[in-house]
Amino acid sequence: MIKTVITQQDRPVLSPEKMAEIQGVIQQFPEGKSKSAILRILHIVEREAGGWLSPDTMDMVAEILSIEPIEVYEVATFYTMFNLNPVGKYVLEVCQTGPCMLVGSDQTIEYIEKTLDIKVGETTADGMFTLKTSECLGACGYGPLLKCGIHYHEHLTNDSIDTLLTACRNGEVEKY
Ligand code: FES
Repeated sequence: MIKTVITQQDRPVLSPEKMAEIQGVIQQFPEGKSKSAILRILHIVEREAGGWLSPDTMDMVAEILSIEPIEVYEVATFYTMFNLNPVGKYVLEVCQTGPCMLVGSDQTIEYIEKTLDIKVGETTADGMFTLKTSECLGACGYGPLLKCGIHYHEHLTNDSIDTLLTACRNGEVEKY
């Protein structure tokens, strides 16, 4: 059973539906192996927390899984897809690994930085965009590319980046 969660300021308030979803994930693993559900639960909780995992939120996940907080921190800090600081509404993750670099990921990053007036790791003043870099996103033949929401945006050009940013501003890009 999932433990009752004490809501604190930096913890998301999980609806009964979300708690049931989490319970469903845990039940997919054998008795005593609920820790194996940690990645999926971190994804669920991160979404509910506005896209990032505070220490309080990670502590909450530890309570849910009846494991030590350090076990959650180890996972959340290992995988770059998790955000450990507040982020904008849309996170732009640009692949910067070799194959994408060879086809212009540096220029892609520079163009986004210039267009949004932020550097990698920063969030725009209006809270709309956070720019991150990523190692290989597993779509090496389609670079330069970035991940935004649930989709990859491939063979990026300045024009297609502009189109994507406008679509985000218009709320037309699916986040989850
Ligand atoms: S190197 Fe960019 S997706 Fe693999």
